[in-house]
Amino acid sequence: MSKVHVLNHPLIQHKLTFIRDVSTGTKEFRELVEEVSMLMAFEITRDLQLQEVTVETPVGPAKGHTLAGKKLGIVPILRAGLGMSDGILSLIPAAKVGHVGLYRDPKTLKPIEYYVKLPSDVEEREFIVIDPMLATGGSAVEALNSLKKRGAKNMKLMCLVAAPEGVAAVQEAHPEVEIYLGALDEKLNEKGYIVPGLGDAGDRLFGTK
Ligand code: URA
Repeated sequence: MSKVHVLNHPLIQHKLTFIRDVSTGTKEFRELVEEVSMLMAFEITRDLQLQEVTVETPVGPAKGHTLAGKKLGIVPILRAGLGMSDGILSLIPAAKVGHVGLYRDPKTLKPIEYYVKLPSDVEEREFIVIDPMLATGGSAVEALNSLKKRGAKNMKLMCLVAAPEGVAAVQEAHPEVEIYLGALDEKLNEKGYIVPGLGDAGDRLFGTK
């Protein structure tokens, strides 16, 4: 079953609290989401492999380590996932960025893929799929399906806030995918919002209603 990591670094928790606050405006919300995403990426990349190298300092040779090659890809789920990508890219600027767009079928309420664009070497990349909110889990499960269908073998899921229902849905559909969260909240309400959550992440990021 997928491991769930709640990244309770003090800086992540501090910023997440301001993100949740209803009085935080669009500009600050966007900046904070970017900052938290960067901090979460720092934690997520702890297991990247290193190789030993030797460089010449002005004083002499020094052994050091550089990243050993697994290529990274970031995949925001449109549209709210876009708010997290710049923060991650500030730490991992060489990562390629794919996109997955999903809409909810008004009859079945199931997420339907309408746009997918991924780097060409999907099979060799380690992907971080990003979406601020893991609510029912429908979009995350479908986005992970979209990547898998196209050959992705190595994926992590990163969300700011999750409901237990969403975590359970991903764990059931994609037991090998590790889940990284800023917070695991209490539940979903009858409208599908995470409680206490932060409201509609897309609207708060883009200033829409
Ligand atoms: N999507 C959001 O943006 N917020 C929620 O609380 C649930 C889904």
